[in-house]
Amino acid sequence: MTASFVAPPRRLVTGTIDGRPVTVPEGTTVLQACRQQGIDTPTLCYLETLTPVNACRVCVVEVEGSRALVPACSRAVEPGMAVQTDSERVRTSRRLVLELLGSSVDLSLCAPEVRRWLVRYRADTERFGPAQAPEAARDAARPGHHGPAETGGAETCAQPVKDDNEDYVRDYSRCILCYKCVEACGTDAQNTFAIAVAGRGFGARISTEFAVPLPDSACVYCGNCIQVCPTGALMFRSEHVMRGDGRWAPERQTVTTTICSYCGVGCNLELHVQDNSIVKVTSPLDHDVTRGNLCVKGRFGFQFVQNRRREG
Ligand code: SF4
Ligand code: SF4
Ligand code: FES
Repeated sequence: MTASFVAPPRRLVTGTIDGRPVTVPEGTTVLQACRQQGIDTPTLCYLETLTPVNACRVCVVEVEGSRALVPACSRAVEPGMAVQTDSERVRTSRRLVLELLGSSVDLSLCAPEVRRWLVRYRADTERFGPAQAPEAARDAARPGHHGPAETGGAETCAQPVKDDNEDYVRDYSRCILCYKCVEACGTDAQNTFAIAVAGRGFGARISTEFAVPLPDSACVYCGNCIQVCPTGALMFRSEHVMRGDGRWAPERQTVTTTICSYCGVGCNLELHVQDNSIVKVTSPLDHDVTRGNLCVKGRFGFQFVQNRRREG
């Protein structure tokens, strides 16, 4: 006899979203309920495969009777809850979050949906003045040390790209501190803990232990952090090099899903191919085995495919 495991039944709860009645299983988040209703809710630190950290606050909604706006990604729908997703207060808060991020971080390579939200909420990334770029000042900051306040512009986290290994580069001038890479490297996927948040306040940044180069850290080059990064701060070296010399052309790329051939686990690979060469490898988030995660072989071990024998 084959045993079948079924999830225990969940009570249904009913509330309203933007005035429309919504009934969902107990434990459903406001974000999930919004998505079921087809409401496009901005998120930056949320990913369905990671534990919500409530770091970015761009997903906030207004809940009747609640003094503060609440994060949709982690707040569960409660019986009788009345949610507004597009009130003036919600739009203002989301715009301000995007403006503050855009004033200090280079968002030019962020995911298309983030660019769409910048337009939708009319986020003015110059609102806090022209960007001031203290080279690597943030990277060098130590906990508890604060420099004198700058005036007349928006302080940025501009700093040189960290290009210290063969597989991927880290450009923290694009980092919005969403914590996704830290979670992917930690208990949510890889359990390697090669990276964490260091510093406090504006000096906070993602760092290896004692800020050592990646090859001297605990990193095992699974690339799971690259997979979840929404801003292009973490990038395949191949993409970084091709962008640098003007060869990167997503419109000429195809994506082919296949199974990794290195072992029997059966991870799904998405091969991004340009000009008959693999340029990077991702993995689908909704795959039961992979959930977007790979090991170093599946993620970066593709060069051998391209070592074709020259004729003649
Ligand atoms: S490549 Fe893997 S081990 Fe290395 S920092 Fe990223 S998630 Fe951690
Ligand atoms: S490097 Fe990317 S994933 Fe990591 S905190 Fe920064 S933006 Fe988020
Ligand atoms: S997406 Fe909800 S707090 Fe960041």
